[in-house]
Amino acid sequence: MRLSNKVALITGAGSGMGQASALLFAEEGAKVAVVDINGKAAQQTVNLIKEKGGDAVSIEGDVSKANDVAGMIKATMDAFGRLDILFNNAGYPMVPTPLIDVEEELWDKIMDVNVKGIFLACKYAVPIMRQQGGGVIINTASISGVRPRPGQSPYAASKAAAILLTKALAVEFAPYKIRVNCINPTATETPMLPLLGTTEESKKVIISTIPLGRMALPKDIAYAALYLASDESAMVTGTALNVDGGRGV
Ligand SMILES: NC(=O)c1ccc[n+]([C@@H]2O[C@H](COP(=O)([O-])OP(=O)(O)OC[C@H]3O[C@@H](n4cnc5c(N)ncnc54)[C@H](O)[C@@H]3O)[C@@H](O)[C@H]2O)c1
Repeated sequence: MRLSNKVALITGAGSGMGQASALLFAEEGAKVAVVDINGKAAQQTVNLIKEKGGDAVSIEGDVSKANDVAGMIKATMDAFGRLDILFNNAGYPMVPTPLIDVEEELWDKIMDVNVKGIFLACKYAVPIMRQQGGGVIINTASISGVRPRPGQSPYAASKAAAILLTKALAVEFAPYKIRVNCINPTATETPMLPLLGTTEESKKVIISTIPLGRMALPKDIAYAALYLASDESAMVTGTALNVDGGRGV
């Protein structure tokens, strides 16, 4: 198993890519702290993991609130006694909206969840990883942080910030043997897709811009995260791994 004896905290793990990653990480031997703002969804993921004989705890919390983040790290330590992998995957979407019509509250919300959430989780997790002698951080950014589409400037800017934050933290934390990488998914078949403005009609247009000719599936992202979480990527840090069927080329 590729994650034996590791403890992973995954945010946004009640749904979509986070849930797929939680299930895969548990199959590969990790104990998983399943964090989501939707506590019921987090518990459902835990139930799925336990049905398959894995070990997991559910933690309800908002990644954009410092108290919640401190609490989720503490709850993970209380449950499993260590933290090896922090997967900052929770994100906040937006339907395409002209910038001049974007409300300030939406801008703030997107930045709070997609950027500040990563800062806060690292702030509280890194002291533990340093003490343990190393660790792995993975962030879910987006190919829209590299190749933006019209009408999603706040979301694209937040994901570009997540990519640069990944690189900045990779060089800052390298002396402590903490690797930091991010994943840039293309449009992925999860419950978030309609919240990003994708309809059955527009799917065809989006797919026509993806050279491999399909959208991503949650497991495509989970397998990339598994590689970045495992010791197989021991020499990889500061990378933004496009899981995008070639959309970013
Ligand atoms: N689906 C796509 O097309 C797509 C493409 C590129 C990137 N992404 C990114 O992938 C990540 C995962 O998205 P998904 O598609 O699996 O979405 P999803 O909606 O299936 O899952 C996201 C989960 O995050 C949780 N969440 C939202 N805000 C939170 C917060 N403040 N604190 C804690 N949990 C919170 C939600 O409750 C939900 O369970 C996000 O960062 C998203 O921006 C998605």
